Amino acid sequence: MADIKLKRKPFNGYYRSAKSSEDGELTHTGPSTPAGEYFRRFWQPVAMVEQVGELPLALEILGEELVLFRDLSGQLGLLHKHCSHRRASLEYGIISENGIRCCYHGWLFDVDGTILEVPGEPENSPIPKKLCHGAYPVKEFKGLVFAWMGPPDEMAEFPAFDTLHQSDNELVPYSIDYPCNWLQVAENPMDPFHSVFLHTRVTRAHFNPAWGAMPVVEWHSMDDNVGIFLTNTRRWKEFLWVRTAEIFLPAIAQPPDIYQNAETEKFFPRVGITKWTVPVNDTHCRIIAWRHFNETLDLDGRGDRSKVGLGRVDFVGQTGTERTYEEGQRMPGDYEAQISQGKITVHADEMLGRTDVGVMGYRKLLRNAVRDTANGKMPAAPRLNADGVVPTLAGDVIVQVAEVEDDIALQKEAGKIVGEIVKDTLLFSWEARPVEIEKRVKEWVATKQA
Ligand code: FES
Ligand SMILES: [Fe+2]
Repeated sequence: MADIKLKRKPFNGYYRSAKSSEDGELTHTGPSTPAGEYFRRFWQPVAMVEQVGELPLALEILGEELVLFRDLSGQLGLLHKHCSHRRASLEYGIISENGIRCCYHGWLFDVDGTILEVPGEPENSPIPKKLCHGAYPVKEFKGLVFAWMGPPDEMAEFPAFDTLHQSDNELVPYSIDYPCNWLQVAENPMDPFHSVFLHTRVTRAHFNPAWGAMPVVEWHSMDDNVGIFLTNTRRWKEFLWVRTAEIFLPAIAQPPDIYQNAETEKFFPRVGITKWTVPVNDTHCRIIAWRHFNETLDLDGRGDRSKVGLGRVDFVGQTGTERTYEEGQRMPGDYEAQISQGKITVHADEMLGRTDVGVMGYRKLLRNAVRDTANGKMPAAPRLNADGVVPTLAGDVIVQVAEVEDDIALQKEAGKIVGEIVKDTLLFSWEARPVEIEKRVKEWVATKQA
């Protein structure tokens, strides 16, 4: 790295051209790496159910080559891709009544890796008793396939987030590939300032013009450090709009309604997206997610469920396949901004500022969690609410409050109060929580208007 004095001078490209080393403790997730061990203590989505057809699907997840298939008895299997015999790929395997048969010499593997047949070997061959093929437990849930890639005797509870169990809510799965490391994609939700610039001022409003107003942002901790959340507060006409967004470790994010209209009061309509950023390998990742559609969201009807699926989602700038390079240059979106940070962003070459507090907080939380896992401490399980599911925190509160002389101070106070209320009501039932949030927010507003 160049001397700091040289870095300050104009025309200093020569001094800044050497690359610093990247932050492998967080970015590398292959087998036996610290972050890889950490990721393997969580259920990970690995594919959309619709991708599992009559042929095996080759996949790479956390730097491991895998094959996903559904056998003829209907069971899903996720196996190491290379055959235990002499390594032919099971993506060319023949799906059987139970499990998958390697094309090369016909060995048959059950979905749990049991070797059922070794047809070229003698009848009493000891091979099936000697080993099992590499296999992972999987679960199918609302159109996505999840896998447990950690030690089987440490299997965590499947993540039952409250937002995935709403009645009258349509969950539409999607999956998008990013040719870059997982962390630069996963940390984006803790940077709400990019909405002002990338999504609004720099080219044109991708979403709502209100996103161009500079927000007052507060970051908040979650109990047991299971994640991080922020309140993002703006003045919009006679309203204060407080958005709460969250990341659960290691890389699960929920942004509120992406097509929110801030011109009527609202008390905690919930999330537009639930997404996992899944490391494929160190230089590729995949967002595997659901868009939510229900009558409390997107009141202007701008979303389009027919545009949500494999490799696509219904808002601009999220993929590398739907627009040309030139279109991306003329109106860059999240995809262009994030992949262009490099194959693996080099943290030592960044110049972080006040807008990066959330990104720094998230990285710190991750680093501590990765180190805890290395020291044998299991990640804490999130607490359950009155309905027996994992309560989450993202949503919008939009309330009418007259503008005051020091409106920034008022916005700051609103964000702090809403953050406290959303957290205080965490263990309430799904029905009771917004009622309590509305009551307490209105009590606060009354103190401002007295
Ligand atoms: S390589 Fe698979 S059975 Fe021989
Ligand atoms: Fe964005």
